[in-house]
Amino acid sequence: MKKEYYEKAKQLLFQMTLQEKIGQLCQKNIGDTSGLGEEKNLINEDAYDKIRQGRIGLILQPAWNMIDDIREAQRVAVEESRLKVPLLVHSDIIHGFDTIFPLPIASACSFNTELIRRSAAISATEATVAGINVTHAPMLDIARDPRWGRIAEGAGEDAYLAGEIAKAYVKGFQEDNGRSECLSATLKHFAGYGAAEAGRDYNTCELGERTMRNTYLRPFKAGIDAGAKLVMAGFHTVDSVPMTANAKYLRKILRKEFTFEGVVISDWCAPYELIAHGIAENEREAALSAFQGGIDVEMCSDCYDRFLNELITAGLIDEKTLDAAVLRILMLKFECGIMEDPYLFMRKSGACVLPPDHLQVAEKLADESIVLLKNENILPLKPGEKIIVTGSRCFDANLLGCWQSSRFITDTITYPQGLEKEGFHCHYASTAQELISDDCGTVIVFVGEAAENSGEACSEQDIRILEEDIELLRIAKENDKKTVCVVSTGRPMILTETEKYSDAIVYAWYLGHSAGKSLAGILSGRVNPSGKLCVTLPRDMGQIPIYYNHLPTGRPRSEADDNKFTSRYIDGSSEPLYPFGFGLSYSKFIYENLILDSDVIIDVPVKASITVENQSDTAGKETVQLYVHDVCAQISRPVKELAAFQKVYLNGRERKTITFEITEEMLAYYHSDNNFCCDPGLFEIYIGGDSETKIFKSLRKI
Ligand code: GLC
Repeated sequence: MKKEYYEKAKQLLFQMTLQEKIGQLCQKNIGDTSGLGEEKNLINEDAYDKIRQGRIGLILQPAWNMIDDIREAQRVAVEESRLKVPLLVHSDIIHGFDTIFPLPIASACSFNTELIRRSAAISATEATVAGINVTHAPMLDIARDPRWGRIAEGAGEDAYLAGEIAKAYVKGFQEDNGRSECLSATLKHFAGYGAAEAGRDYNTCELGERTMRNTYLRPFKAGIDAGAKLVMAGFHTVDSVPMTANAKYLRKILRKEFTFEGVVISDWCAPYELIAHGIAENEREAALSAFQGGIDVEMCSDCYDRFLNELITAGLIDEKTLDAAVLRILMLKFECGIMEDPYLFMRKSGACVLPPDHLQVAEKLADESIVLLKNENILPLKPGEKIIVTGSRCFDANLLGCWQSSRFITDTITYPQGLEKEGFHCHYASTAQELISDDCGTVIVFVGEAAENSGEACSEQDIRILEEDIELLRIAKENDKKTVCVVSTGRPMILTETEKYSDAIVYAWYLGHSAGKSLAGILSGRVNPSGKLCVTLPRDMGQIPIYYNHLPTGRPRSEADDNKFTSRYIDGSSEPLYPFGFGLSYSKFIYENLILDSDVIIDVPVKASITVENQSDTAGKETVQLYVHDVCAQISRPVKELAAFQKVYLNGRERKTITFEITEEMLAYYHSDNNFCCDPGLFEIYIGGDSETKIFKSLRKI
């Protein structure tokens, strides 16, 4: 099939004028924002005119209900242009379209890649009905700095987990439905964008090639190997070179080394922004730098439309390189089906109500994304119990989180709705006085940040819990009440003060449509929490960036923290408040009897097994995590790195032996010469319920 499409695409290319070829590399936003600051609806006569001239090949629609505009744009393209080449229709479907799932950072805490894959397939079913056939997702930026608002959109701080999640999204978007309900996935933002200095969005990223290869590029490689059809370059610079013009990463590594054959798209007006970056004097130079850097499609700015023709005519860009880029877009159009049927994604009408089966998946994923951080034996509450409900986030209407444009916002189950439906008798208190004067013995305080305060362009200097929320918890404790703190947020926040006055802490993120129901299910015990942190929760903002898979340094901090001349602080702990991989359950899981079937690995995998016992009567799920430490390598390697995990179900009092296969690939990394392999020598294999597990066995690679 691919060969047949390639022949057809070449024939079509042969018929194109130079301007029509360039048109295939130009994406126009048709929504109600332009990206260059002015608010205007761009699907106007000028846009239709450009489509007629074959000067637009793709459109981006950030808002819903554009179906009539999209259909008209497609009609103009296939009826009024010379070669009648249909348009690709892109949108950002990050964690749902009509049905909204938990934020990606929340879903990552579920460690349930099957459910994530299912959520992607549902999003594709819903979005393709609106004429969309490309999504700008999954976002795979490893993030270690919670000041960066876009940490909400990704899979946290670990490259392996992000890679497994990348595969789940790509397969769910691209493969799990019939052809007319598949979305082409765009891996973004290639690569390293999450390392923005000081957590300030769009800021400089200073990343060496080892860190890029062994951390930030890994989830992209996983997504590419899973068949993702597009990659989006980030706004940022790496080693002072804007990614939009970075031939080392876009051409040498992505194209040649990773053998990526799909489309590389810029981020929003990023070619134009090369002027602001200071590497292009004007839009003509910007077009040259972006194209030579490896950008196929320019999103929303006009540098290609206005200058590529001249640059090719002047011999500064080889037309063969242009042809290769155009062929990639034409191949994408053939593969997704719009060349045969331009209205393939416009033949159905959108759902009038949220499909119950979609909502069920959203609920399951939300249930499994909630992380129980602390529980001094007060959860679960008794159903029907009288509770005081308060806190700054208690009455939030928007629990869907950032980066969503669902038509069904009012279908969100809010916290009060969920609690009351669960059977709790809620007494709402808006002041400490009301809280004190109420004789209820249990207080639920909803803390965190508004959904609008996370996501793009939402970097924050202060990520502590609000003083007034901590005050409510403190006063409740002083009045001998049991306190449950629920954190509603799109990022890790500083809970150190909060923790002092909380008998239980539930990290609820932003959970999508099922928020209030899933949260209430956890509090009542109808749902046994199984979420595990995909990011470290710092003890103090002064520790940031803090992450579990750090290098040891030459002066590793000691457990006792007693040696002054080690990598530590003199005015506070170096340890996180809650580590990566941590999460409690109403069950009680213990780990014992780690066995390797060999203490050496030579070519064939070694089996690792461990017994997990549920020492409670409550059935539950546990994510068993396997970490690797390369004790001595050609470069310094992290103290631990997640290399495998299994989310397992255990009945009350059940014991299970969980086995993993340790392969040489799990022990491999990119050496200084960029060779990906593992060294002979000693490794430590850790298995446990979080990244601080001390259970390990040594393994020697011969
Ligand atoms: C935004 C984001 C990118 C998104 C694009 C189109 O600025 O950086 O993630 O896909 O614009 O909406």
